[in-house]
Amino acid sequence: MGGRAFRLRRAEVSIKHAMSAMLPKTRTKALLTALTLAAAAAAAPALADVEFRHALDDSALDLSPIKGEEITDAVKSFRKDGVNPYNGNAEALAAGKTIYEDNCQACHLDDGRGGMGPSLIDNVFVNARANTDVGMFEIIHSGASGAMRSFSQRGVTQDQILKVIAYIHSLKK
Ligand code: HEC
Repeated sequence: MGGRAFRLRRAEVSIKHAMSAMLPKTRTKALLTALTLAAAAAAAPALADVEFRHALDDSALDLSPIKGEEITDAVKSFRKDGVNPYNGNAEALAAGKTIYEDNCQACHLDDGRGGMGPSLIDNVFVNARANTDVGMFEIIHSGASGAMRSFSQRGVTQDQILKVIAYIHSLKK
């Protein structure tokens, strides 16, 4: 028993020695890797996934699919680079109009000019990131203050959110 524990201890000590001997080189290597990665990220930000955060407290959003939801290619691409592939796409705009009429019009009115919810077409923003598609997505998906609730919790899919955002852009004069 005692012998075994001693051998283990010896092994631990020699691993520690080996590691401390290796450390400077390993450190340099790790530093170089980090620098290379940082340079790559700066050159091609599209490679990194967009971070989606809650409009009110900046907590990370849970973007796991809701019941029966398919994560479409449009959503995957949006989550990579933050560019809404449906902007200006006629078919998506037609679908977005229906989603808007069913879910948003009551508060933001038919042309987006605002009623009980703020105008979505005047380029004045209540929430910090609402001037970007990522910020709008965050708000529609997970809610903001007061009456602006999470539409994901009401069964609106991420693909539908992208379509309704594209539709809102089409309402701007
Ligand atoms: C029950 C009323 C209500 C409904 C329905 C509603 N909203 Fe809102 N919406 C609001 C209110 C109120 C705010 C302001 C929230 C705040 O101050 O943070 C808001 C804010 C927003 C914002 C952020 C605007 C900004 O300047 O920060 C967006 C984008 C938005 N809503 C889109 C939508 C979309 C798209 C739908 C439909 C899927 C929708 N809303 C449905 C009431 C509503």
